[in-house]
Amino acid sequence: MSMNDRTPKTFHVKSFGCQMNVYDGARMAELLEAEGMTAAEGGAEADLVVLNTCHIREKAAEKVYSDIGRLRREDGSRPMIAVAGCVAQAEGAEIPRRAPSVDIVVGPQAYHRLPEMVAKAKKGERALDTDMPLESKFGALPARRKQGPTAFLTVQEGCDKFCTYCVVPYTRGAEVSRPWNAILDEAKTLIDRGAREITLLGQNVNAWNEGEGRGFHDLIAALDRLPGLERIRYTTSHPNDMTEGLIRAHAEVEKLMPFLHLPVQSGNDRVLKAMNRSHTTDSYLRIIERVRAARPDIALSGDFIVGFPGESDAEFEDTLRIVTAVNYAQAYSFKYSPRPGTPAAEMEGQVQAEVMDERLQRLQALLNQQQLAFNQATVGRRTSVLLERNGKKSGQLIGKSPWLQSVHLETNAAIGDLIEVEILSAGPNSLAGAQLMRNAA
Ligand code: SAH
Ligand code: SF4
Ligand code: F3S
Repeated sequence: MSMNDRTPKTFHVKSFGCQMNVYDGARMAELLEAEGMTAAEGGAEADLVVLNTCHIREKAAEKVYSDIGRLRREDGSRPMIAVAGCVAQAEGAEIPRRAPSVDIVVGPQAYHRLPEMVAKAKKGERALDTDMPLESKFGALPARRKQGPTAFLTVQEGCDKFCTYCVVPYTRGAEVSRPWNAILDEAKTLIDRGAREITLLGQNVNAWNEGEGRGFHDLIAALDRLPGLERIRYTTSHPNDMTEGLIRAHAEVEKLMPFLHLPVQSGNDRVLKAMNRSHTTDSYLRIIERVRAARPDIALSGDFIVGFPGESDAEFEDTLRIVTAVNYAQAYSFKYSPRPGTPAAEMEGQVQAEVMDERLQRLQALLNQQQLAFNQATVGRRTSVLLERNGKKSGQLIGKSPWLQSVHLETNAAIGDLIEVEILSAGPNSLAGAQLMRNAA
């Protein structure tokens, strides 16, 4: 019996992985709504479930298969199932071979074709599209709709860096910058629909450029001039694309928030070279120095991998050393995960799981300590907070500080308000504050 003999009326998009997947998930939802479908709350109740997947580490990639299994309803039926995102791109037709209940497989550069694929699936045919078409999906997507006070905006996609451990250049394709006007138009629409903060997204967002023309800092300057926008953020950056102009923007552009996520991955030059990172610990530290000179209160964030093939104890200690030298406000750290098709997966000296566990624990203990210290240093400070959502208690709202910390406070201000707050106390993951005056904006 075909499970798909009816047109789906409701859908549910579940996104995993990075912010770009969150952005793609929002755009898929907008696309399905434009087709007349409505968003359903939970997974299995929806007529169509889109699993927007991540392939970055093995655990993330394997998750999709258990999620597919969980979509079976009590009566034995199931929704129409679409696998989107980076696992779809990397595994393609292998997905329905392993999980025959999957109706649609759609890659990150092809999801504007989702409506046609749903129509095909409705007829009981399987639909697979992992093309990376020349014409970009963005032109075919409907306009942005209303969302909360913060919004993501993808300006750059793909990666040409080919770090030896990483699947992104294969799942997202080559580096492509979206055109200037398309970005500014989308930003204006987002602002019209309530966004007060925009986070510019790219796998290497600071590599955004117009060839010989304008660079990423020009884009930031143009956003700074848009009325109604209060805050600008961007992520993720590669050290090699930290231009002088971008560093200067941190000193000059008022709406640009004092936060920089700049992954270094390892604190050892031999490991960095084996990773094909094309920066050294020294060049990284020099960039940090210049960024701090431009914006002394900047909060620094990073990504780290422990247990890259061949990493010795002493080389791992170098990573602890660079963490100590930089002093991060927050960070993400991961155990190396060998990914099919990447050069590092074939390297000798794969590190044992127990060794990786121990290294990760030590690194995270240090990073957590730094994060707590950073949070505690804001106690007593007066700062702006953009209110984003309701807290658990009534009258409590949660917003973000300029340094991307979550701030909890009691207020009768509304979500979307930018208010002045005094920070009263700090924990490892959030701050508590008190409002100073109503609606400072
Ligand atoms: N483009 C960004 C990050 C992309 S992936 C950058 O270069 O900084 C996010 C993070 O996942 C990476 O920074 C890296 O720390 C981690 N990562 C990527 N591949 C991994 C792998 N095979 N094993 C473990 N962590 C990995
Ligand atoms: Fe992956 Fe490296 Fe590209 Fe980042 S720069 S997406 S880690 S290949
Ligand atoms: Fe994952 Fe793809 Fe993002 S692999 S981290 S969802 S670019």
